[in-house]
Amino acid sequence: MQVETLEIPGATLMPWSNLAQSENLDDIAVDLQRSCMDPATQEFTTVPKNYTLNMAFEFLRGDALRWAIMANDRYCGNIEVREDPRGYSVGYNLAPWARGKGLMRAALEAAAQWAWNQGIACLIIEIAPANVASQKVAEAVGAKLVEKGELLTYEYCPARGATPAAGGA
Ligand SMILES: CC(C)(COP(=O)(O)OP(=O)(O)OC[C@H]1O[C@@H](n2cnc3c(N)ncnc32)[C@H](O)[C@@H]1OP(=O)(O)O)[C@@H](O)C(=O)NCCC(=O)NCCS
Repeated sequence: MQVETLEIPGATLMPWSNLAQSENLDDIAVDLQRSCMDPATQEFTTVPKNYTLNMAFEFLRGDALRWAIMANDRYCGNIEVREDPRGYSVGYNLAPWARGKGLMRAALEAAAQWAWNQGIACLIIEIAPANVASQKVAEAVGAKLVEKGELLTYEYCPARGATPAAGGA
């Protein structure tokens, strides 16, 4: 499986592996570091504390089922589909300067559609109970709360009755 470029209103989801060749790699790394040091990102994701510029460059060299969310050539966040013992999960974060515009809802819908096109049945989303913004995003796309523990577990599956995507694996 390989991710492909996806367009959403106001931004492009760019395959992560494309970033390494970007002319703006230095600016992207600075923005990535800044975004990772944002208090909400630190609180609600597993990004390391004291996230350095070197860590940003190293992360940018990595490969995964991950997209960079780019708007006007600026790094605005990322979204990633991961294999999980329960199937597949999706994780996401937006830089502070890109929040409050509905970007993640659109990015999540696009990434999920890509996943369903690959034959992935449902995506798991795990969210801290205090992370109201992320819960609202999950609920807005139609994900269902299936378990309440230390984290809230949502399942995001294609809407019932949706036409199966062509070319699914
Ligand atoms: C979660 C996140 C991706 C949402 O980004 P976004 O698309 O900009 O979301 P918005 O700011 O538009 O917020 C979505 C909704 O939550 C609401 N909201 C935002 N912050 C909130 C808060 N602190 N408390 C209550 N509601 C909040 C918004 O008003 C909006 O509500 P609406 O849909 O009814 O208008 C972003 O805040 C983020 O990256 N946070 C840090 C990292 C993170 O939490 N990642 C997810 C881990 S599970």
